[in-house]
Amino acid sequence: MQQYGMNMEILGKVAFVTGGASGLELATSRLLHTEGASVVVVDRDRDRGKAVVAEMGERAAFVQADVTAEGDVTRNLDAAAELGGLDIVVNCAGAVTASWVVGKKGPASAR
Ligand SMILES: NC(=O)c1ccc[n+]([C@@H]2O[C@H](COP(=O)([O-])OP(=O)(O)OC[C@H]3O[C@@H](n4cnc5c(N)ncnc54)[C@H](O)[C@@H]3O)[C@@H](O)[C@H]2O)c1
Repeated sequence: MQQYGMNMEILGKVAFVTGGASGLELATSRLLHTEGASVVVVDRDRDRGKAVVAEMGERAAFVQADVTAEGDVTRNLDAAAELGGLDIVVNCAGAVTASWVVGKKGPASAR
C-alpha cells in the first residue's frame, strides 16, 4: 500500500477491524485483505459479518462483539493475537446520527 509517500507493508500482517461488516470499515477490511493481510472482522451484526468473511475467503475471520463491552473486546483481541500476532487495529465501529450541534443562537443543547 503506497500512498502519500508512505510504504506500508500489509502482506502477512494480522488486522483487527471493528465495525468491519459495513461501510467504511468493510471497505478497509477488504482493502487490507486484498493487500495480503489476515483480517479479523469484529462486529455486533453476526449475519452480515459472517457473509463478509465468507466472501473474502481464506485469511478472514469473523468475531461477534460489541465494542462497548470491554470483555468482548479483550477476548477477541486475544483471539486475533492467536492468529499470529496483532499488527493492525482499525477501531471504527459506531453509528452515524445527524443532528444540530450549533445554530445561530449558540449550541443546539441551549435551545
Ligand atoms: N458515513 C459517514 O458519513 C460518517 C461520517 C462521520 C463519522 N462516521 C463514523 O465512521 C464510522 C463508520 O460509519 P459507517 O457509515 O461506515 O457506518 P455503518 O453503519 O455502515 O457501519 C458501522 C458498523 O459498525 C457496527 N457497529 C456499530 N456499533 C457497534 C458496536 N457497539 N460494536 C460492534 N460493532 C458495532 C455496525 O453493526 C456496522 O456494521 C462510525 O463510527 C461513524 O460514526 C461516518
